[in-house]
Amino acid sequence: MKILVTGGLGFIGSHTVVELQNEGFDVVVIDNLSNSSVDVIDGIERITGKKPLFENIDLRDKNLVTAFFEKYHDIEGVIHFAASKAVGESVENPLLYYENNINSLVYLLQQLQKKDKASFIFSSSCTVYGQAEQMPITENAPIQSAMSPYGNTKQIGEEIISDVAKVSNINAVLLRYFNPIGAHPSTEIGELPLGVPQNLVPFITQTAIGLRAKLSVFGNDYPTPDGTAIRDYIHVVDLAKAHVVALKRLLNKQNLEKVETFNLGTGKGSSVLEVINAFEKVSERKLNYQIVERREGDITEAYANTVKANEVLGWQSQFSLEDALASAWKWEQKIRK
Ligand code: WQD
Repeated sequence: MKILVTGGLGFIGSHTVVELQNEGFDVVVIDNLSNSSVDVIDGIERITGKKPLFENIDLRDKNLVTAFFEKYHDIEGVIHFAASKAVGESVENPLLYYENNINSLVYLLQQLQKKDKASFIFSSSCTVYGQAEQMPITENAPIQSAMSPYGNTKQIGEEIISDVAKVSNINAVLLRYFNPIGAHPSTEIGELPLGVPQNLVPFITQTAIGLRAKLSVFGNDYPTPDGTAIRDYIHVVDLAKAHVVALKRLLNKQNLEKVETFNLGTGKGSSVLEVINAFEKVSERKLNYQIVERREGDITEAYANTVKANEVLGWQSQFSLEDALASAWKWEQKIRK
């Protein structure tokens, strides 16, 4: 039985392929290389000793998706990462996001609903909660109207999956990520942001290595202890392992409902300044940064209540913020060599 990983050459996807292959799964990757490099396959092989099968397919092409499932007819599990994911870009170009993130999901589900059983793991995001009222955030926290087309595609995606699961043999797990950071300890794979990084940690490591002059801290007038915004930064390897646990849960029919939802975070909130201080500690370098205005659309605070993931899913993050930052820094140094 093969497992399809869409977006499997991307940041979280590639780390998940590593963990799947470490667990003995046969993996087929679909990736259109729009935000990844084919060299990532070699990195995966260097870590696991195995190359995943790879198909360079754009999931927006319904005929190619259909042909893929005719070729690989024994696929029963799918982990779906492939999507556009830049919040700011989604505001500028909403139709790119609706076409890519929604159409691709529909074409995949159309193929899976033909099967007499299918396990589907969906890459969702804590962004669906907007600014939650209560911290830490549980899976029952109300879904608030999305702050961006990107976030909206995650909310719509969850609804589509729930509707289809009701009338098909598809069982699904929705994984709502908090803030994925870091890189595989081997430094064979990691984050490869295209252009100027939107996210905090890659911007920090690129500043520390000298690629960026300084980091702009987007606001220190938030109602938080040090005035900077708080997030739940989770090591990408912890996140990857959670996908394997979720997949096995469905394959072994341990799921309690046709669609289950889990928040994936550490359960600990860290402010931007705390991340900077932690990075300076692990890298033994002073970081050049300045405080500027808030970024449009940012929320004050988000960190996960991990009880359901720990007790129902049976997964717990293992790495600390420092571990994750140290791995991100090691990776940055490696790729700039
Ligand atoms: C984290 C904190 C910024 C950059 C987004 C998406 C989420 C997921 C992860 C895709 C915030 C501050 C950042 C910088 C800064 N993406 N910051 N200077 O916005 O929490 O989440 O990325 O799946 O869905 O919403 O992550 O890393 O952009 O920001 O001060 O140069 O760092 O204001 O407080 P975010 P982020």
